[in-house]
Amino acid sequence: MTDRPTMTTTAGAPVPDNQNALTAGPRGGIMMQDYQLIEKLAHQNRERIPERVVHAKGWGAFGTLKITGDISEYTKAMCLQPGAETPMLARFSTVAGEQGAADHERDVRGFALKFYTGEGNWDLVGNNTPVFFIRDPYKFPDFIHTQKRHPKTNLRSATAMWDYWSLSPESLHQVTILMSDRGLPQTPMHMNGYGSHTYSFWNDAGERYWVKFHFKTQQDHKFFTNEEGEAVIGKTREGYQEALFYAIENGAFPRWTVQVQIMPELDSEKTPYNPFDLTKVWPHADFPPIEIGVLELNRNPENYFAEIENAAFSPSNIVPGIGFSPDKVLQARLFSYADAHRYRLGTHYENIPVNQPRCPVHHYHRDGQMNTYGGIRTGNPEAYYEPNSFDGPAEQPLAKEPPLKVDGDMSRYDHRVGNDDYVQVRALFNLFDEGQKSRLFSNIAAAMGGVPSEIIERQLIHFARVHPDYETGVRAALKAAHGYGADTISTAAE
Ligand code: NDP
Ligand code: HEM
Repeated sequence: MTDRPTMTTTAGAPVPDNQNALTAGPRGGIMMQDYQLIEKLAHQNRERIPERVVHAKGWGAFGTLKITGDISEYTKAMCLQPGAETPMLARFSTVAGEQGAADHERDVRGFALKFYTGEGNWDLVGNNTPVFFIRDPYKFPDFIHTQKRHPKTNLRSATAMWDYWSLSPESLHQVTILMSDRGLPQTPMHMNGYGSHTYSFWNDAGERYWVKFHFKTQQDHKFFTNEEGEAVIGKTREGYQEALFYAIENGAFPRWTVQVQIMPELDSEKTPYNPFDLTKVWPHADFPPIEIGVLELNRNPENYFAEIENAAFSPSNIVPGIGFSPDKVLQARLFSYADAHRYRLGTHYENIPVNQPRCPVHHYHRDGQMNTYGGIRTGNPEAYYEPNSFDGPAEQPLAKEPPLKVDGDMSRYDHRVGNDDYVQVRALFNLFDEGQKSRLFSNIAAAMGGVPSEIIERQLIHFARVHPDYETGVRAALKAAHGYGADTISTAAE
């Protein structure tokens, strides 16, 4: 006899033998009736779920958002009121690599946050960059295809990336950040996070403000050069997981200062750029960041699959006092994430513990895969439709956002018209010191290996429009790295 719990089948029956299959004689064959063996093999076949179509490789931890500032004049969100403390989950990720990809690859980093507020889950699904490669969501699948594998070679294609980028100048801001030092942070703790999009706040008086969220690392920015990153990968492909997990395990809890930039609703007509354009920042001088609190990560997940792989972040998860904006990319993301979750995790994915709101949930959705909450979530089995006379859950008018004026003729507007793709990149380029510029040039040159010269030349025109030094710097780095020059035509990899 033993004190250990009895091993059972999934139906709860004791398992008499977990070492030897049921056979006809010691040499076999195996009996079809060995349902324990079949159950074991069948479960193994179902251990993997589809990886995220982007941001597949990730690292996560739980923590707290503490509000120390006072922005109650802008938003009624309870979790943003002075003194509020909200439990939260963070998942960091790379964009392009698959689930087994090495952590220290040059890539944009995801910075996804889920706040378990008393008014429902608020998810801020951002990156470690304040801008993005596209400003029209129509281009997201095309852009992502250039980051993933070539259909024939099954290899990443530098040609595809630079072909797309050189034909899409709105990507230049994000490409410059990606190729700069911030494109390869040492750990997830040594980078900022940004909500990136313009969101909105609204208050009890029904006033709306546009808002951008910033999470500034308190661990300092630390980056690796390409060579340093490669050396790390030579030793471990899991450097981020190790760094984050053991920092928290050892009590060195990473923190970020939380800031917002606020723009009164009608000022969106006055900026020289479209403040809802995801390829643009709001200059700090015009909209100074306001410090509102601290984000701290202080608890590792008990089970990676259950709590990080199963986590479902969606920009559509907002709470009263926080709203969206006309940003076209944000608008498309409001559809895309919950759709991805229904496919990746199943219909009732918000029933998985890590996704469950920490407040009462009452809705009239029914049945379907993974409905494990007793079939109906209205509090009364007679109230399974709405309106009803059985005290079923009712709508809450106080959660209604103030009206937003929307007008314009329906058309497919050319998003490149009237948008300067260079001025903010120039402001960034001018911030870099000589060392940063030199690493920017060599990182770009390294990433352009094997790209046909007509594509390189097209991209160099964009660099020149930012600053003549940008073009000449990259050209010199291309020559040093690949012997690229007027009389040296680089060869296409595929
Ligand atoms: P500021 O001089 O007021 O702000 C510059 C900001 O640039 C800094 O606060 C810092 O942002 C960020 N920065 C500094 N060094 C680097 C670097 N090596 N790589 C990437 N970002 C860096 O000027 P502006 O607000 O007018 O911005 C100028 C440019 O700075 C923008 O065009 C944009 O490219 C970049 N930037 C601007 C941000 C913004 O929200 N205004 C945010 C991030 C970058 P942080 O404090 O967030 O670390
Ligand atoms: C993940 C779509 C733009 C940040 C994902 C996923 C999809 C997706 C389908 C996988 C979701 C899942 O399976 O759980 C899109 C579309 C975009 C877009 C359609 C544009 C049209 C952006 C932008 C950002 C961003 C602009 C940041 C500002 C992230 C992050 C994740 C992610 C951080 C990983 C979330 C996690 O950790 O689970 N995206 N995305 N995406 N996306 Fe996007």
